[in-house]
Amino acid sequence: MKNILFATSEAVPFIKTGGLADVAGSLPKYFDKEKYDVRVILPKYTCIPEKFRNQMKYVTNFYMDYRYRDVYVGLFEMEYQGVTYYFIDNEEYFSGSRPYTDMFFDLEKFAFFSKAVLAALPVYGFRPDIIHCHDWQTGLIPVHLHDRFQANPFFNGTKTIMTIHNLKFQGVWDVKTIQKISELSDYYFTPDKLEAYKNGNMLKGGIVYADKVTTVSSTYAEEIKTPYYGEGLDGLMRARSNNLVGIVNGIDYDDFNPETDPMIAANYNAGNFRKEKAKNKAALQKELGLAEDPKTFLLGIVSRLTDQKGFDLIKCVMDELCSEDTQLVVLGTGDRQYEDLFRHYAWKYQGRVSANIFYSEELSHKIYAGCDAFLMPSLFEPCGLSQLMSLRYGTVPIVRETGGLKDTVEAYNEYEHTGTGFSFANYNAHEMLGIERYAKDVFYNRKREWNRIVERGMTEDWSWSVSARKYEQLYEEL
Ligand code: ADP
Ligand code: GLC
Repeated sequence: MKNILFATSEAVPFIKTGGLADVAGSLPKYFDKEKYDVRVILPKYTCIPEKFRNQMKYVTNFYMDYRYRDVYVGLFEMEYQGVTYYFIDNEEYFSGSRPYTDMFFDLEKFAFFSKAVLAALPVYGFRPDIIHCHDWQTGLIPVHLHDRFQANPFFNGTKTIMTIHNLKFQGVWDVKTIQKISELSDYYFTPDKLEAYKNGNMLKGGIVYADKVTTVSSTYAEEIKTPYYGEGLDGLMRARSNNLVGIVNGIDYDDFNPETDPMIAANYNAGNFRKEKAKNKAALQKELGLAEDPKTFLLGIVSRLTDQKGFDLIKCVMDELCSEDTQLVVLGTGDRQYEDLFRHYAWKYQGRVSANIFYSEELSHKIYAGCDAFLMPSLFEPCGLSQLMSLRYGTVPIVRETGGLKDTVEAYNEYEHTGTGFSFANYNAHEMLGIERYAKDVFYNRKREWNRIVERGMTEDWSWSVSARKYEQLYEEL
């Protein structure tokens, strides 16, 4: 039996801002329980819904020496869907209405968290063979294990994995600040360790010191070795390429199942979607005040509204996208300019464009179920989960060929009658528009072909069954 600890800043159902939460909250369920005891540790944010906070059991507390103070560390735990979750409590760091606040404070928050995780494990009595770290927030854990925690026999033989969900976010500030909050000596602040371009870099620490590095698709694992996608760390990624693998994400096939999903108007499957999926479209049009027309092409977007997701392309051709034969529904929050863009177009084209500038799990399911196609023209995309949810719900993805989008959406080939979606290569607004129009043409004029694209997408398997085995393999290699 191997003990594995996932260290993460978010996990569903407790706290979510993006795909990392979906991964950290679903993957642990899919390991072979005979061979792996996988537990998850995360901060006990005060913004975790009350119903979960009430179920957490208090374990104990201690005071940890951090930045020349004795800082309170409360330990809680709870079981959810067969997985043990540990929570680190400290309201000085983990209060507020959101998990992330301003970057400067977040750096210290997660430096504290990373140290507290290692201080807490002996107290919990859970001795991990592998600590599996996710993103910059936990980047200091592999470094601390080589440093102050190395002398502790409790961690004899403990190995680490650093998984990169998004290389853009690295936890960077000037060396002095990162040194202060990490409590690491000068030794660590050279360009072969935590220093990058004269700054301190927490993710870089994790990548340098972890035994293995992974990212969330094979294509992204290759892309980040190039300057265009490498976010300044492409040299390091090349240097670590022998220990770098891409393992594509899956999604939780229980939560995202059109056959049983309680949030959608009508349940359906790959056999009866032709009749039943239409009911979801009608319900969605009605709920959002769109013209209730079963024939009009309904295009959906569920996303963080940031440059990463290709919204500058959309902005560039927004008028053309909102043509009379198209309805557009957007659900998302993020950059002000994009929030306002969609609000403006919802006002300009009432009954045709619906802007939902908020976060809603429920509406997201209704959009995955109710739309004909889903637009995701990302500039870069480590994996992307929304296109997998769309495939599962028979909503045809239109994507740019990058990262996980390239690995999971097979472009429609009208001669061979293959493919599960539509894709374009260059980051160019008119190339995107051309592909969107091509998709629409198939939708309007070759309905049988369209339905076969839908059917192929729905019958693919993007659950964790394959990728969880790949992580197990990696755990064995360590
Ligand atoms: P990223 O992690 O880069 O944001 P992913 O595609 O991996 O992108 O994951 C995004 C996840 O967040 C998906 O589960 C998507 O449905 C969800 N999501 C994004 N924005 C919203 C929103 N406004 N309301 C509900 N869910 C959202
Ligand atoms: C990040 C990436 C996204 C990926 C998610 C989960 O948020 O932007 O592409 O799917 O992490 O790994």
